[in-house]
Amino acid sequence: MSEQAGAFCPPFPRNWRHRHLLDLESLSAEDVTILLDTAERLSEEFRATGRKLALLSGQMIANLFFENSTRTRNSFSLAAKRLGADTIEFSASGSSVSKGETFIDTAKTIEAMGVDAVVTRHATPGTSHLLARHLDCAVLNAGDGPHEHPTQGLLDILTIRQHRGTIAGLTVALVGDIAHSRTARSNIWGLKKLGAHVIACGPATLVSRQWEKLGIEVAYNLDEILPRCDVLNLLRIQFERQSTRPFPSVREYALLYAMNAERMRKSKSDILIMAPGPINRGVEITPEVADGPHSVILQQVSNGIAVRMAALWLLLGGPGSGGNVAGGRD
Ligand code: NCD
Repeated sequence: MSEQAGAFCPPFPRNWRHRHLLDLESLSAEDVTILLDTAERLSEEFRATGRKLALLSGQMIANLFFENSTRTRNSFSLAAKRLGADTIEFSASGSSVSKGETFIDTAKTIEAMGVDAVVTRHATPGTSHLLARHLDCAVLNAGDGPHEHPTQGLLDILTIRQHRGTIAGLTVALVGDIAHSRTARSNIWGLKKLGAHVIACGPATLVSRQWEKLGIEVAYNLDEILPRCDVLNLLRIQFERQSTRPFPSVREYALLYAMNAERMRKSKSDILIMAPGPINRGVEITPEVADGPHSVILQQVSNGIAVRMAALWLLLGGPGSGGNVAGGRD
């Protein structure tokens, strides 16, 4: 693959007005569609030419991760590089955070190095919104506790759209740990805006009736809803966010909610099986389903790069954007 950046420059969407990408709740259906269409456009160009695009050359993007990540962190880095930008990788371990520096001071320090955008992940809900108030550069939320994970929602929706052509009218079930899932919240906002019927399904300890207030259906029996579902998004049980066990045993959870070969036989013949990852084989999904013909889990990973390219370009590549030169860039 050539290292040389290409001169491709698509027209900038006229109606895009945002400086940050903090959640899907505050975006309009048009904003979500712009993000998805831009993701398709940029990844098509990258695939066709096999060359980095020069859309953000000279710009600097910092990954500020205070929580573990495999897919999100690496795909944000790769997305930045495919747009010709440079990246700074920050991890809380090994940084001055261990010497008592605050989250905001750490972020401001990184910004002062001439950063144009900060991609942030933190265990506390609202941290990316907080940074957006304190920093001058663009802020992208890569997951704030159980609140939102907008690029995950977008990549899930893009994957569905690629298979079904549209989102409106589809029935999409989010199955598992809804209570602790930022992926669930971002999916709900994005899918609802584009006209899907969303079902949150799982044990009552992890799916409250309160979710109905968001205009979605709540269900406790996967076998009952299965024949109606076009898409299942299987969410991991987030044991790390729970103080007490939400069910008697993992075996019992798997018995009631794991997608397995028998449940596949009761599903629509063209059902899509998705998972944000990391997947726990044998808990929310069995290996034959995870690796089977209906699974689009790895396509979701590839689409993660595309939607992150779109988000970075829309925030940093608009007319008049020249990048943050504070602190120099050498
Ligand atoms: C999700 C996350 O971190 O919120 N994963 C991801 O970003 N791909 C879901 C999870 O951790 O289970």
